[in-house]
Amino acid sequence: MAISIILLFLPLIFFSSFSSSTIDRLSGASSLSVEHADDVLTSPDGVFSAGFFPVGDNAYCFAIWFSEPYSEGNRTIVWMANRDEPVNGRKSELSLRKSGNVIITDAGRLTVWSTDTVSESSVFLYLHENGNLILQNSEGGVLWQSFDSPTDTLLPQQLLTKDMQLVSSRSQGNYSSGFYKLYFDNDNVLRLLYGGPEITVYWPDPELMSWEASRSTFNSSRIAFLDSLGYFSSSDNFTFMSADYGERVQRILKLDFDGNIRLYSRKYRMDKWTVSWQAMSQPCRIHGTCGPNSICSYVPHFGRKCSCLPGFKIRDRTDWSLGCVQEFNLTCTRNETGFLKLSNVEFFGYDYGFFANYTFGINWLDCSSTVVKQLNRTYTKHQENASLKFVVRFAMVVGSVELGVIFILWCFFIRTHRNSSAELKKATQGFSKEIGRGAGGVVYRGMLSDHRIAAVKRLNDAYQGEAEFQAEVSTIGKLNHMNLTEMWGYCAEGKHRLLVYKYMEHGSLAEQLSSNSLGWEKRFDIAVGTAKGLAYLHEECLEWVLHCDVKPQNILLDSNYQPKVSDFGLSRPLKRGSQANKGFSKIRGTRGYMAPEWVFNLPITSKVDVYSYGMVLLEMISGKCPAEEIENRRVVTWVREKMKQATEMSSWIEMIIDPKLEGKYDKGRMEILFEVALKCVAEDRDARPTMSQVVEMLLHQENDSELV
Ligand SMILES: *[C@@H]1O[C@H](CO)[C@@H](O)[C@H](O)[C@H]1NC(C)=O
Ligand SMILES: *[C@@H]1O[C@H](CO)[C@@H](O)[C@H](O)[C@H]1NC(C)=O
Ligand SMILES: *[C@@H]1O[C@H](CO)[C@@H](O)[C@H](O)[C@H]1NC(C)=O
Ligand SMILES: *[C@@H]1O[C@H](CO)[C@@H](O)[C@H](O)[C@H]1NC(C)=O
Ligand SMILES: *[C@@H]1O[C@H](CO)[C@@H](O)[C@H](O)[C@H]1NC(C)=O
Ligand SMILES: *[C@@H]1O[C@H](CO)[C@@H](O)[C@H](O)[C@H]1NC(C)=O
Ligand SMILES: *[C@@H]1O[C@H](CO)[C@@H](O)[C@H](O)[C@H]1NC(C)=O
Ligand SMILES: *[C@@H]1O[C@H](CO)[C@@H](O)[C@H](O)[C@H]1NC(C)=O
Repeated sequence: MAISIILLFLPLIFFSSFSSSTIDRLSGASSLSVEHADDVLTSPDGVFSAGFFPVGDNAYCFAIWFSEPYSEGNRTIVWMANRDEPVNGRKSELSLRKSGNVIITDAGRLTVWSTDTVSESSVFLYLHENGNLILQNSEGGVLWQSFDSPTDTLLPQQLLTKDMQLVSSRSQGNYSSGFYKLYFDNDNVLRLLYGGPEITVYWPDPELMSWEASRSTFNSSRIAFLDSLGYFSSSDNFTFMSADYGERVQRILKLDFDGNIRLYSRKYRMDKWTVSWQAMSQPCRIHGTCGPNSICSYVPHFGRKCSCLPGFKIRDRTDWSLGCVQEFNLTCTRNETGFLKLSNVEFFGYDYGFFANYTFGINWLDCSSTVVKQLNRTYTKHQENASLKFVVRFAMVVGSVELGVIFILWCFFIRTHRNSSAELKKATQGFSKEIGRGAGGVVYRGMLSDHRIAAVKRLNDAYQGEAEFQAEVSTIGKLNHMNLTEMWGYCAEGKHRLLVYKYMEHGSLAEQLSSNSLGWEKRFDIAVGTAKGLAYLHEECLEWVLHCDVKPQNILLDSNYQPKVSDFGLSRPLKRGSQANKGFSKIRGTRGYMAPEWVFNLPITSKVDVYSYGMVLLEMISGKCPAEEIENRRVVTWVREKMKQATEMSSWIEMIIDPKLEGKYDKGRMEILFEVALKCVAEDRDARPTMSQVVEMLLHQENDSELV
């Protein structure tokens, strides 16, 4: 009996809560005042309300919210007109003008917001059942609507288009514009961006190319929207489905102040909201959450935790996004500065430039001391291995630290010998010890004043212009990997261009392949090392670099036969995130090693280097230079034919293996090397592996194989 009474009464209570004196439209010259709690527009079904909402002490914003609070006194705001310019709690109002304009005035005088609309005919303002505030004229034309200028929330049926963005609020209780944005980028991809002191994109994962993140760059319509069942789709092919997909559920897609975008749902009006989807599962991957000079770590069951770097203290206890400030005074005294090792920490953002304390003790022939440039060596991120990644993920420390710190901790000392212009001539004994001729220049051996042996490359005068030279040098100067040649310095004056590298005792792979000295073990190690060097170029450097001329002449070998990829004269940085570098105007590379993309004028991606690398592998295995032809066929074609003729793997390997190896090789590894080489030289660039996949395939084999 008691139950039925309650059931009877409930609908009445509900009904009365929004059938009281609410306003369903504004028309003529009228206004809503901040001072009257009843001055609220309500949608016909009562779900949404619009009016002045308190955002601070005596500060109000005109907002749209769900009429039913999610908890006592807490409203779910879905839109705000003047989020960055709240108005006074007295005499402020939103008014509809006869001219067709809607304005918000602060304390009766100052206009802080307006729709900037005009109309000849009469207009009215109303709140649609889907939460859209619409200014319409009597002919039914929409002059303005809130759906066209979202704040941080997207409602079902509301389009996110190319001219719109969602901007997070500043913090939990502060509704003004914050640091995070959801928007369509120039390449048509929907992204999340942190626009704090540094501007960085963090979703989709910036480590991935668009297509690797399953995003398409081809559809330029740039539209995304959430349907009322909980399915979101974007024109870049990104889609997701709510965990509680279905009807009769209220939903909002909100870019929260912490930089994560979440889909919230609730089944009943008075319920709290539950998260039914979110973009980022690891909160520390969101850039800037902990602010500059701090470390973000993830603690299971607790969540994100921010802490300051050693020597720094929090700037504002109530707001981590402001980060930490240094507590020490910066000095440049050698004995007081140094580096601090931070374990299991990952950095985000860009390098301003990183430098080892690199000394430079020579000057050049034809170059006065003023034009000798010291290279800015880059700080490099070392390849994390799988176990480290595991530690990073699960040992709670996924950190992000503002890079500026290293700058502060670092001091740089230059030593130049100013008046020894003849030194380089002396070092190279008058450019007499020629050790090689590479693309566009002759290389000489020389000894520097500090007894280091150097390779000095004198570029042909006509070969490179100043700009190209600068490009090569700045590219190389930023790279630092054990499998890349280390450049010590350079010099440019007038027509003269000199590059100074570390001298490589064993010359190039090309020379070693033509002599008899390169056994199987060394060949395999060179294959792995070269792959690592290229993988670093493609995937780990902050500036993506394509080599574009991978060939045995450009793989140098040090005293231990460690390969060093050299000659980046033809490369240029590929902007990270751009799918292909359309800036290549000339065909680059060397006949025989060049990928088909060059010939067919297709987009040039890192896969051109993968192709050339595959050719180098084939050459190392077969001893045959791909620029030559065998039985009137290209080497690849010849290899593939042999493969088809043979009945089993080992027999065709015998047919094509370099006779110089005299049958001494590890069968298992040879097979994997072949397999990798053939994958790399696939005509379709999408079928080729990436260089890091190559490294993985080769190393995996290294662990598994047994010597035959
Ligand atoms: C919200 O944040 C902005 C920007 O930091 C600040 O200027 C404003 O005073 C804050 N508002 C409130 C109510 O705390
Ligand atoms: C709003 O909700 C928060 C928790 O989400 C709670 O701490 C706060 O007290 C609520 N505000 C009011 C006015 O009840
Ligand atoms: C987009 O997705 C559809 C179906 O999910 C697929 O057929 C299509 O190839 C994708 N487009 C791109 C460019 O990835
Ligand atoms: C581009 O995306 C829109 C919206 O998702 C879709 O309607 C349209 O068919 C797409 N165009 C192409 C060429 O795929
Ligand atoms: C830094 O320098 C300021 C002024 O020179 C001085 O007052 C302060 O004590 C110094 N702080 C430290 C940590 O040395
Ligand atoms: C660093 O060296 C200077 C003189 O070279 C000396 O005065 C100072 O005490 C030293 N500082 C430390 C921390 O050792
Ligand atoms: C850096 O400089 C110091 C002092 O000159 C020297 O002892 C140290 O070996 C140098 N480190 C490197 C990596 O060159
Ligand atoms: C090295 O860095 C300095 C200062 O950041 C800059 O002026 C100079 O041009 C850089 N040199 C090269 C070769 O990039």
